[in-house]
Amino acid sequence: MRFGVLGCASIARRRMLPAMLRQPRVELVAVASRDAAKAERMSAEFGCAAVHGYGRLLERDDVEAVYLPLPPSLHGEWIEAALRAGKHVLVEKPLALDAAQARAAVDAAVAAGRLLAESFMFLYHGQHAQVDRLLAGGAVGEVRLFASQFGIPPLPPGDIRYQAGLGGGALLDVGVYTVRAASRFLGELEVVGSVLDVDPVSGVDLGGSALLRTPGGVAAHLQFGFRHGYRSNYALWGSRGHLQVERAFTPPPELRPLVRLETQGRREVRALGADDQFANIAGAFASAVRDGVPPDVFGADIVRQAALVEAIRAFAEK
Ligand SMILES: NC(=O)c1ccc[n+]([C@@H]2O[C@H](COP(=O)([O-])OP(=O)(O)OC[C@H]3O[C@@H](n4cnc5c(N)ncnc54)[C@H](OP(=O)(O)O)[C@@H]3O)[C@@H](O)[C@H]2O)c1
Repeated sequence: MRFGVLGCASIARRRMLPAMLRQPRVELVAVASRDAAKAERMSAEFGCAAVHGYGRLLERDDVEAVYLPLPPSLHGEWIEAALRAGKHVLVEKPLALDAAQARAAVDAAVAAGRLLAESFMFLYHGQHAQVDRLLAGGAVGEVRLFASQFGIPPLPPGDIRYQAGLGGGALLDVGVYTVRAASRFLGELEVVGSVLDVDPVSGVDLGGSALLRTPGGVAAHLQFGFRHGYRSNYALWGSRGHLQVERAFTPPPELRPLVRLETQGRREVRALGADDQFANIAGAFASAVRDGVPPDVFGADIVRQAALVEAIRAFAEK
């Protein structure tokens, strides 16, 4: 799958482009920037072409798919442009700011006949399938509660996450992972409560918490923020025990993540297998296109995720 990249984003340079070079199913063709010199520097680092301007990259016939790591408020416009140009699109999270935007993006993918996916790369780490096996083996009994936290220390003042107009805020940045993890393990959810800690100066939320529930009454308590000591975990608490994954969302490829298991009278820490989630998502996306999966194969997940995030915000603003 021949990829082009829109924007010399930090996540692209630090994680996704190195992973694409490790992934044999992917070829990195070109990187585009608003700034020609920036594109040149990045292209030299990764051995691909430099393009000045996102539109010009979309005009290239040698680009089949686009990786889109722009600030969240720009996702909608560039998803549409990339689909119109006939490209498959892998978009950084959060793909959309709300459910209507998510639905519009999925509809546009169907109309264009091109695959659209949200880059929740943590879903492509093998540790969660190992957790599934532990749960299926009765490690915690029947699940009663899900909990997840993702928090990071403060970022440099100019960061896109502090800019309301660019789709900043902790809910859209780190909170979305906890929401996606809850859906991954519990399925259908509704939001029953939330708080957001909004900074009066920047207007973005710096942290928050949400309570969700399944139709069967299993609760998910989510906590997130970016003025917090680093935490990136989820836990399932069941009728027989408790299981916690310690590096749930951003484990580096060489790390063997730990899972802590507690049952009556017994505590155990297991090291799960290391995995390369960025290379995996790029490879899975390429394979999905080659296998001819329907363009909206991820559509229901994309819309459900955006609707839950929108409901968390709406509840907090009531
Ligand atoms: N999946 C993950 O693990 C992960 C981790 C971090 C971030 N992300 C997501 O990736 C996206 C980018 O995050 P990031 O931290 O990498 O951001 P970043 O370093 O600030 O990069 C964003 C890029 O967007 C382009 N851009 C276009 N218009 C812009 C504007 N008005 N202001 C600022 N930049 C603009 C810039 O590229 P040019 O100047 O080259 O045009 C810039 O380099 C976000 O959606 C974020 O949530 C995902």
